[in-house]
Amino acid sequence: MTNDDNKRRGIAGGLTNYGDPEFAAYLRRSFARSMGYSSEALARPIVGIANTYSGFNNCHRHFPELVEATKRGVLMAGGLPVEFPTTSLGEVFLNPTSLKFRNLMAMDTEEMIRAQPIDAVVLLGGCDKTVPAQLMAALSANVPAVQVVAGPMSTGRHKGERLGACTDCRRFWARYRAGDVDAAEIETVEGRLATTAGTCAVMGTASTMACISETLGMSLPNSAAIPAVHADRLRNAEESGKRAVELIGTATLRPRDIVTEKSIENAWRVLLAISGSTNAVIHLTAIARRAGVRVDLNRLNRLSDETPVLVNLKPVGDNYMEDFHAGGGVPAVLKEIRDLLHLDVPTVSGKTLRELIAAPLADQVNRTIIRPRTEPVDPDGGLVAVFGTLAPRGAIVKRAAADKKLLEHEGRAVVFSSLEDLSKRIDDPDLDVTADDILVLQNAGPRSAAAMPEAGYLPIPRKLAKAGVKDMVRISDARMSGTAYGAIVLHVAPEAAVGGPLALVKNGDRIKLSVAQRKLDLLVDPAELEKRRKALPQPPKMERRGYDKLYDAHVLQADEGVDFDIF
Ligand code: FES
Repeated sequence: MTNDDNKRRGIAGGLTNYGDPEFAAYLRRSFARSMGYSSEALARPIVGIANTYSGFNNCHRHFPELVEATKRGVLMAGGLPVEFPTTSLGEVFLNPTSLKFRNLMAMDTEEMIRAQPIDAVVLLGGCDKTVPAQLMAALSANVPAVQVVAGPMSTGRHKGERLGACTDCRRFWARYRAGDVDAAEIETVEGRLATTAGTCAVMGTASTMACISETLGMSLPNSAAIPAVHADRLRNAEESGKRAVELIGTATLRPRDIVTEKSIENAWRVLLAISGSTNAVIHLTAIARRAGVRVDLNRLNRLSDETPVLVNLKPVGDNYMEDFHAGGGVPAVLKEIRDLLHLDVPTVSGKTLRELIAAPLADQVNRTIIRPRTEPVDPDGGLVAVFGTLAPRGAIVKRAAADKKLLEHEGRAVVFSSLEDLSKRIDDPDLDVTADDILVLQNAGPRSAAAMPEAGYLPIPRKLAKAGVKDMVRISDARMSGTAYGAIVLHVAPEAAVGGPLALVKNGDRIKLSVAQRKLDLLVDPAELEKRRKALPQPPKMERRGYDKLYDAHVLQADEGVDFDIF
């Protein structure tokens, strides 16, 4: 099937195949009328609204309202809004981990955009994997599309301080593990961390992907950080619905016109300047791949050297997304790094980035939240890739979130062979571990049974946590929540489950991390490693079926965005 917009004609587009197109059109009109549409309504262009409301997705609790606002915008511009459900991925409700289903959601969304009579689509997403899935789908379907995000949660209060999911979830859990917080208080905190609709309240993965979508030009300007409960969020949905109608028939504003090598580079810059989530490296790589753009992690390092961290939000800094929105949001960041950006790129708004940046900001920038270039939070970008004998295809470090002295560190490996092994032994009082050791987790990458969960934030062994240890170097082929922090090396590629060098590490081996030199080396004689490789046990044969089988057969490594090789 072709993606040519000229072939899409409202209700008569992409007809069901009965071998008689006129019959198919008549039958469809007849069935559409059963839903109460008039022929005047059915003559309009159709804007599909991909609705990811789900009882298993707390972050999308307000989507019924957002759908109504989007419909209003579509109607105002002369289109017919038609809402349709797709897979929804509520981060904490999925087993083994939401990333495993991102590609399923992308496939579902892409195919429904293609198969249904949709002239343009508004994608309503928010929780971590939903926006990447929708952008991947939009690029593959290449039908005019506008991304609307859920917006961040507002903060809660506890003993006079603000709380926001989920950096504070982790902070309190670490205090509970260390014995600073008792069972009664942790239960109280549990009810105060996530108190409104919307996505996690800090610069986690969802917020990062919202900023990336706006920077790519797939969302309307100044929309990424509007709080979920703010009336502006509804106005953004209304405007997006309107804009989707206007995009129908435009020859040059389809997703693949907007998401290009240049706009992707802009997105990397913003990811670095906001010190965004490490997960976004995987998602932006997958989005770029759908746009036909290959990501080179060495290029990420060059951009990281030139792009300062400007945004002072948790988990790296002190503030929350609601402050970021009030303080200027993405437009203020874009203005601040304008000399580093490709400005002549189109956006769904119909304006180029240059035109958007030239517009005055609605409010004065809060310089505590969004720093000027002359006073950055950090002169270097928040994320870097490291390479070496332990990670030949790279690994990612969020240097802005780490204890700086650990970024240059050599230590003894304490190895956990799986997540089960980790949970069994990490708190064992007899575990042979000191604060200078390096914790290594194997078999948590994309092809492992765990399917690359957010388990890279290995807990500090309880006996060390009780002694006041707050950070240690931790290395794995897993991911880490965008709301977490520490000297954590993630996404090691190739992963242990496909025989990467991570699989060969043994207790007591020396490992050297040098973020300054972008190096991660296993200091073991190559002949010894070869011997260990030959002795590696064959992975157990697993009975797989359905999506699990498709996933296992086609999933790519972290440096290729964990997309499927069939796309
Ligand atoms: Fe949905 Fe954090 S759980 S964004």
